[in-house]
Amino acid sequence: MKLLLSVFTRLHKPPALTGARLSSGARGGPVAAGDEALIRGSSPELVRGLGSQVEVRTAFITEDEEGALLRELEPGLRKKRYEFNHWDDAIHGYRETERERWGEACEKVLSRVRSVAFSEACSLLGPVHVLDLDKTGYIKPHVDSVKFCGSTIAGLSLLSDSIMRLVREDAKGHWLDLLLPRRSLYILRDQARYDFTHEILKDDESVFNGERVPRQRRISVICRNLPD
Ligand code: OGA
Ligand code: MN
Repeated sequence: MKLLLSVFTRLHKPPALTGARLSSGARGGPVAAGDEALIRGSSPELVRGLGSQVEVRTAFITEDEEGALLRELEPGLRKKRYEFNHWDDAIHGYRETERERWGEACEKVLSRVRSVAFSEACSLLGPVHVLDLDKTGYIKPHVDSVKFCGSTIAGLSLLSDSIMRLVREDAKGHWLDLLLPRRSLYILRDQARYDFTHEILKDDESVFNGERVPRQRRISVICRNLPD
């Protein structure tokens, strides 16, 4: 798919998961504007240091708004098959689309996303990226293409809670786990976007702070800006 080819240019093997790694998370200091209980990391310093570049906003959209997005997206998505086949894909068990024009209710939601995530000066990637992960689907660690995407990635999560893991590319022991509740918004900026891989964990690895976070089918609606 066009968008994926451009978005996923650098793939990485997931770091080995250890119990210690999952249970040694320590919460750090303030996390700008987001909900810090939703962010765990390998050290409080890392959580603090990256704080302003990683946000999770709980209940960013209402159930009605989620419904409006789903009503607009489902008919198109239903026509596509989930793709599971390619072992080297960055995403397993997904279908996707991009959308430039939205109905009024959805457009309102998207302008709210844009207004909290992007400065007015920056140019956005025109189409919004929509990624539908099957219950068994997951996204492997990757860094979005620096050629096609700018410094900020903002994503709404529909239908399911999930865990996004960030791992520092040149120091795999440095990581953050973000709990992305259904209907939340996450924002990755700058270092968090360039120096860390991000991934969405598969259902059987979906554990946050020792608690299982069952992964259902999940649709993400992702806004990005253009590189400078
Ligand atoms: C991507 C990606 C995350 C998400 O499409 O590049 O990382 O929330 N998606 O679906
Ligand atoms: Mn990505």
